[in-house]
Amino acid sequence: MVADTDTTSWAELHQQTVERLRAAGVDNASNEARWIVERAAGDPYRLVADKPVTVRSHHHWRLMVERREAGEPLQYVLERWPFRRLELFVDRRVLIPRPETEVVVDAVLDEHARVGGAVVDLGTGSGAIALSVASERPGTEVWGVERSPDALAVARANCTGLGRKARTVRLVEGSWFAALPEELRGEVGVVASNPPYVPDAAELPDDVERWEPIDALRAGDDGLADIRVIVAEAVEWLAPGGALVVEHGDDQGPVTRALAASAGFTEIRTGTDLAGRERFLVARR
Ligand SMILES: C[S@@+](CC[C@H](N)C(=O)[O-])C[C@H]1O[C@@H](n2cnc3c(N)ncnc32)[C@H](O)[C@@H]1O
Repeated sequence: MVADTDTTSWAELHQQTVERLRAAGVDNASNEARWIVERAAGDPYRLVADKPVTVRSHHHWRLMVERREAGEPLQYVLERWPFRRLELFVDRRVLIPRPETEVVVDAVLDEHARVGGAVVDLGTGSGAIALSVASERPGTEVWGVERSPDALAVARANCTGLGRKARTVRLVEGSWFAALPEELRGEVGVVASNPPYVPDAAELPDDVERWEPIDALRAGDDGLADIRVIVAEAVEWLAPGGALVVEHGDDQGPVTRALAASAGFTEIRTGTDLAGRERFLVARR
């Protein structure tokens, strides 16, 4: 049904959205409907509920509802998603930033508070880790490395959105450490990464498989192809006392600790996510 946008209120559109999302099988239809309405209206629901809908925002609303009905993740539909203190622009060129990665940033900031120096985020995607560090620890030299030019464009957009705090951030295209300038070798305070770590044959939820960039997720037969490279090479790039913080799958803690030990790291530990599962390595040079 096409609404008469002169008389339709956002409250009515909200109700229509709830019904359409429920019919499409969306679990959290009421909240999602509110977020979609707020995105289209550009203001919190309570401020716009009784206001009439403009033609332009009605068009935006309709496109978002259709995309969500087709199964596209809400984060891509809204084109933005909160990550720690940031609201990141996200679309299908990047992985949707996950809550477990927010916890990884805590470890990165803790290690940085101890050792200082530059922070390198390998596989920066939307820029979630790199830009959180720049935002929460202003003035830190931050390097974001990304192999996908498409993803890097998203990180650049988010970097611009950060304003003045982004002036110490450098985003570079290339593969892992090869993208960094030679002067950083042996000088980095913290190497952080949320690399691909899903085994090629492992099942992923349907919506992840269908909508998210698969190169951001899969990493060979055992899921360790990228973690192996990062752990082995990080030692050379870290300053003495510097730390490596790497996210991994919840069953990859023991093997990742073993890789760190054989690369020569000391003080190796595994951090857990909010559900208590082993989710990231912290190791010091
Ligand atoms: C799991 S995603 C993480 C994105 C973001 N850091 C986050 O936490 O939301 C992994 C990222 O690594 C990038 N990537 C994969 N292989 C890479 C490589 N060899 N060098 C640099 N980046 C790579 C992917 O394009 C993707 O953006």
